[in-house]
Amino acid sequence: MAAIIETRNLTKIYGGKVKALDDLNISIEEGEVYGLLGPNGAGKTTTINLLVTRIAPTSGTAIVNGFDIVKNSLEVRKSIGVVPQDLTTDEDLSGFENLKMVSQFYDVPAEEAKERIHKLLSMVSLDDVKDRLVRQYSGGMRKRLELIAGLVHDPKILFLDEPTLGLDVTTRTQMWKYVREIQEKLDVTIILTSHYLEEVDALANRISIIDHGKVLATGTSEELKSNLKGDIILATMKTDKDAETLMKYPGAIEAKENGPRAVRLKVQNSDEELPKIIQYISGNSLSITRLTVQKPTLDDVFLEYTGSEIRSEEPTDSRQEMMNLRRLRR
Ligand SMILES: Nc1ncnc2c1ncn2[C@@H]1O[C@H](COP(=O)(O)OP(=O)(O)OP(=O)(O)O)[C@@H](O)[C@H]1O
Ligand SMILES: [Mg+2]
Repeated sequence: MAAIIETRNLTKIYGGKVKALDDLNISIEEGEVYGLLGPNGAGKTTTINLLVTRIAPTSGTAIVNGFDIVKNSLEVRKSIGVVPQDLTTDEDLSGFENLKMVSQFYDVPAEEAKERIHKLLSMVSLDDVKDRLVRQYSGGMRKRLELIAGLVHDPKILFLDEPTLGLDVTTRTQMWKYVREIQEKLDVTIILTSHYLEEVDALANRISIIDHGKVLATGTSEELKSNLKGDIILATMKTDKDAETLMKYPGAIEAKENGPRAVRLKVQNSDEELPKIIQYISGNSLSITRLTVQKPTLDDVFLEYTGSEIRSEEPTDSRQEMMNLRRLRR
């Protein structure tokens, strides 16, 4: 598989002071859905803005679809679609008119545009409301329109910056379905940023965790999780004494109290360790009321690499989300 995007020591320093990107090297293959995950200020939007040639790098460069972002920015722009975080469609036009306008902007021949617009509208189930003014759209409809507006000129690569920010959980999962369908049917490479771990987990086949402008880890969600080396076993015991004895289980990397009579054991591999724990329990005549195994989540991976939970960054995000919601409702 050939790389469709390759960054080469991509660096961005704002105003001579803020190093937002620090020798970033990532390689994205054709046909991938690639997720950029990182806390606030990690450099995600900066990366996107550089790749879509909205801003210029301080040093280093990137090749996007065979074109250099510094030397051939015009060609780069023609071959990509961008769905920015902020809404861009015109509320005083219908959905169809909005898409028509985009097609004219990109000089797509009228017949071809018509066909493509109809195809896109039906892909995201907007055919029935295509002639309605966008201001009458629900938040979810509007986001779907924004999504396909980035695809009218048949780009090879689609950039999605926070595609579901401000949507409720149900509408968000619906959006995921559409994004997946688009990727499969239109054969487009997708790069997305998100501060929803579940979203990156559900959509991206490869993920880069970035922080302070550097890549901390790259891999599939499964690879990142298995690199953590450690599963969690949660046990609730019948008595305090039973819990105390289980805490001394020798095969654990780590043993912690986890509430009344509950023990949290971190083990190398739960599949191998579980039978031994059960042996230990019966060998010591302990009584157990509950036993569960927890495989690491992307949350744990994120915590391990960045040292902070993505949710602790919520204040800025929810503020932004509230603003977006207001805009969506208007
Ligand atoms: N125009 C700018 N001028 C100066 N500093 C900037 C500018 N844009 C971004 N920065 C800084 O660069 C760093 C990276 O910002 P960026 O917006 O790329 O992060 P992000 O990962 O998208 O964060 P968020 O999750 O909050 O959107 C931050 O320290 C930010 O304050
Ligand atoms: Mg951002």
